Amino acid sequence: MLLSRNQITTLLGFIRALIGYNRWQVLQSFVLLIFMGISQGVSLLLLIPFLALAGVTETDQSDSGLAARVKTVFEHTGFELSLINVLLAYIFIFSCYALTLYWQSIVNTQLIQGFTRQLRNKLHQAFIEAKWLFITQIRTADVANLLVKETGKTGSSTQLLIRLITQFILALVHIGLALVLSWQLTLMALAGILVLILIQRSIMRAAYESGEGSYLNHKVLFSMISEHLNGLKLVKGYGSEERHHRQYNEITKRVKDHANRFQYSGARSKLVFDIGGVLLISAFFYAALVFWKIPVIELLLIVYIFARLLPRFSTMMTMYNGLLNNMPSFDAIEDMWVRFRENRENISQAVPEPLACKKEILLEGVSFRYEAGQPILTGIDLKIPANQTIALTGPSGSGKTTLSDLIMGLLQPDQGSIKVDGTDISGSAGWRQAIGYVPQDGFLFHDTIRANLLWANPQATTEALWEALENASARSFVEQLKDGIDTVVGDKGVRLSGGERQRIALARALVRKPTLLVLDEATSNLDDQNETHIRKAIRDLHRKMTILLIAHRSTLIDDADQTVVLEQGRVKEIVGSYTL
Ligand SMILES: Nc1ncnc2c1ncn2[C@@H]1O[C@H](COP(=O)(O)OP(=O)(O)O)[C@@H](O)[C@H]1O
Ligand SMILES: [Mg+2]
Repeated sequence: MLLSRNQITTLLGFIRALIGYNRWQVLQSFVLLIFMGISQGVSLLLLIPFLALAGVTETDQSDSGLAARVKTVFEHTGFELSLINVLLAYIFIFSCYALTLYWQSIVNTQLIQGFTRQLRNKLHQAFIEAKWLFITQIRTADVANLLVKETGKTGSSTQLLIRLITQFILALVHIGLALVLSWQLTLMALAGILVLILIQRSIMRAAYESGEGSYLNHKVLFSMISEHLNGLKLVKGYGSEERHHRQYNEITKRVKDHANRFQYSGARSKLVFDIGGVLLISAFFYAALVFWKIPVIELLLIVYIFARLLPRFSTMMTMYNGLLNNMPSFDAIEDMWVRFRENRENISQAVPEPLACKKEILLEGVSFRYEAGQPILTGIDLKIPANQTIALTGPSGSGKTTLSDLIMGLLQPDQGSIKVDGTDISGSAGWRQAIGYVPQDGFLFHDTIRANLLWANPQATTEALWEALENASARSFVEQLKDGIDTVVGDKGVRLSGGERQRIALARALVRKPTLLVLDEATSNLDDQNETHIRKAIRDLHRKMTILLIAHRSTLIDDADQTVVLEQGRVKEIVGSYTL
């Protein structure tokens, strides 16, 4: 066996996926290939009359063998076997070959690019549709690596596969011709080639395993880059650039060494083939001249064929190893895709009408745990009347964020139910459309304030955007910016202060005109002045929408109609404090 069962399964899976992508294009490419093979075979055959006309005469059997047959075919077409005619036929056939090659390369490019794109989109869609709980459990850098690097490798695998099949078919044509010219010599040569291939068995296995290593290295490289980028300020602030660079250096060394090892083994394989090949050709010449006494033209032709065939086999081996080397990437993509699909959110992805909350959000006996561990929330009964402001408080780790994720429908309770005006929110895509969410770090996209606001509601008018900014106590500072609402906020909003960023994040939530506004520790990182801005905004929004305020600080809690205190995943007490 050249490969293990697993490796064969992966390779076949890859081929199946390629055919599944566009069987028409694959077929087209294949038919063109056959045509290329035929035209190359014919142009090789034309060498026989060409050699004869050029003065290389056959010593014996001048009227038998391949030369005679070519001559008959030629005469059949009504053309004289003259030098000009042979050359014209050669030009014609070769042009056909070149045109087919051109056409095939266009079809192949479309196939390769299209297949890569489809794979990327398929993985991305599965990723984006996966449950939030599952997404929190994976490393996003791994997904980035798969989406960018590993899917790219699949493109090159497709290219290698097509080129491999091309080479194989052309090799078959050559072998076929050689068989007609002298089957003894050909069989001998093929036996030699087979031995050369078998010698390389271990290299093929190593190619696949080396691919696994290369995938793991890139995975580390990606996650390292992503963490460094996310923690750049920390890195600078702690003056630990050197340490980070050293880590990066180590991993790039691993990547380099690994790639080198793979290339070395490829070069070794080529060396074996080249030296083995030259031995083979010599043996060939010897056998042909001493034992078989083959006519000169046919001998020249057969040696010419094998002289071309051997490097072709060597190239095929290199391609095959390259293909095997890429297979672990494909495996990883498929694996990840399957995991995403198994954890797919069963929620309609079409954008539905937002679900309004006119009466209440009702939690009954809600319990939740992350994986198999301690329950994080136990038996939560809670009624949030519409258009009231509810504060959720409790020590860090008591389950506030988890509870708000459940209320937003990002997580699903293990027990109990969450209903909005009697409708269970699990599986309701409309509920998410009805929520405005302000996280603790107020993540913004590297774009203008306008674009960040429109992101939440692409239909909003400029007026509505200003209104949202006004309601978020952000209007005056945005007006003072040089480019106003068209100011670019920088990566994650670095060009704004924390308080400004948070107010833009609040405005973004308001642009949606949400039924439920969730602020998860939205002011915890802010100074008093900025907190005052947000508190004012929240007070002004009172009674206009349902507001869930998560905070451990008492100031915000003062603005709530009710305060729910969580402790170790249970409701400890509910206090009504708001006075109208
Ligand atoms: N994605 C997660 N996977 C596993 N455990 C988690 C996850 N998120 C939070 N937890 C755990 O759940 C508990 C409650 O977390 P959280 O709801 O964030 O608390 P709070 O917001 O009140 O600080 C903590 O013990 C935390 O370790
Ligand atoms: Mg929290």
